[in-house]
Amino acid sequence: MSRDTGFALRGEVLHAEGVPLSRIAQGVGTPTYVYSASSLRAAARRFRAALSPIPRLSLAFAVKANPSLAVLSVLRDERFGADIVSGGELTAALAAGMDASSIVYSGVGKTPEELAQALRAGVGHINLEGEHEGEVLAATAVRLGLGATALLRINPNVDAGTHAKITTGTSDSKFGVPLADAIGIYDRLARRRGLTLHGIAVHIGSQIMDLAPLEAAYRRIGELVAALRARGHRITHVDLGGGLGVDYRDGPDGDVAAYGAMVARVTQDWDVTLMVEPGRYIAAHAGVLLTRVLWVKPGEECPFVVIDAGMNDLARPALYDAWHEFAAVTPNGATMQAHVVGPVCESSDRFAKARLIDRVREGDLAILRDVGAYGASMASCYNSRALVAEVMVEGDRYAVIAPRIDAAAIRPQVVPDWLEAHALDHAA
Ligand code: LLP
Repeated sequence: MSRDTGFALRGEVLHAEGVPLSRIAQGVGTPTYVYSASSLRAAARRFRAALSPIPRLSLAFAVKANPSLAVLSVLRDERFGADIVSGGELTAALAAGMDASSIVYSGVGKTPEELAQALRAGVGHINLEGEHEGEVLAATAVRLGLGATALLRINPNVDAGTHAKITTGTSDSKFGVPLADAIGIYDRLARRRGLTLHGIAVHIGSQIMDLAPLEAAYRRIGELVAALRARGHRITHVDLGGGLGVDYRDGPDGDVAAYGAMVARVTQDWDVTLMVEPGRYIAAHAGVLLTRVLWVKPGEECPFVVIDAGMNDLARPALYDAWHEFAAVTPNGATMQAHVVGPVCESSDRFAKARLIDRVREGDLAILRDVGAYGASMASCYNSRALVAEVMVEGDRYAVIAPRIDAAAIRPQVVPDWLEAHALDHAA
């Protein structure tokens, strides 16, 4: 396999680069996300190299995949900008030292305050998801005495052929404006004072393995670029979104070389700066979730391996039936068939169903693989569990990049005084 995941057996113990995962468990506890900086860099370079035939290219990492400042710092060093969807992600990208001009702001529900925050920060492009958002942005820019540069996001009505919950480019999805309305909306917004439209944006979904729907969407965008130019619009930028998938089992990842070649071919006459916003492809393989086996409990069909990571720490299996490999940190060659489940009180808190896995016993360490994207970023404190810790490894050193935080510290609680009095009455 061409991918370099940064996690491999050395001797008897699984390592993250040069660091035994057992050492991290001892120092930081479990559950803990562990990222490999080298793996992130390798994926970022692979992606950039594959798109090198494109003359004017601007790469932005989709921050939602992994907003850790340490991860963003690695990608800043790799000359990635940021694709953001909230004021919080804007703050993270800037804190990681990303240049505001390299930031592109998408999202269907930006608040007026977030639009103002983006303008003050000097964000490179705001991707408009609707006409009224463009009007509000223009008015905000005039009020603040700042200029707004924006792209209009198009919904091309192309089915990405991925999981229904991560498809974004069909006409029943909330993203962008319908292709049929695009010219009218662009014409009207281009006349607004305070707003400079640079072009268009598209993103049809995530975990896409078949390039055909991406190509179909890009061709529609190419036709729209030509039509807009014919009406006198100056189109300098097109944002192609993210979406290239990775393999979570033992097959090949989305073919990034073929993707680069396809993009270069389809866009060769566009004469624009192309923006691409990968998230998963860059980060998925660069992270594991390190966990400890709490119990091995007999079951009717096969035993339940109860681990100390739950769906609150890694939501993908519960949300999308996603597959993540489970592996022992010190495998002994034996296997067992088991359900791997977390401690959360929901049946969907299950990572593997009757799967053949490394044999583990109570107290053993294990990992769930390929969780560097949409893992920690989707974690919660459900069941009043602590917010999971994160560690970055590079070579033979590691550092905690996000400490474990108790649920009570994440969401400090206030009991109104009238309820306290009631509680006292009750106790009396
Ligand atoms: N650009 C935009 C506008 C997006 O909405 C997304 C992802 C990306 C770029 C990055 O897409 P990627 O290259 O990572 O496929 N939580 C789900 C994935 C949701 C993706 C949302 N948008 C999961 O765990 O599979």
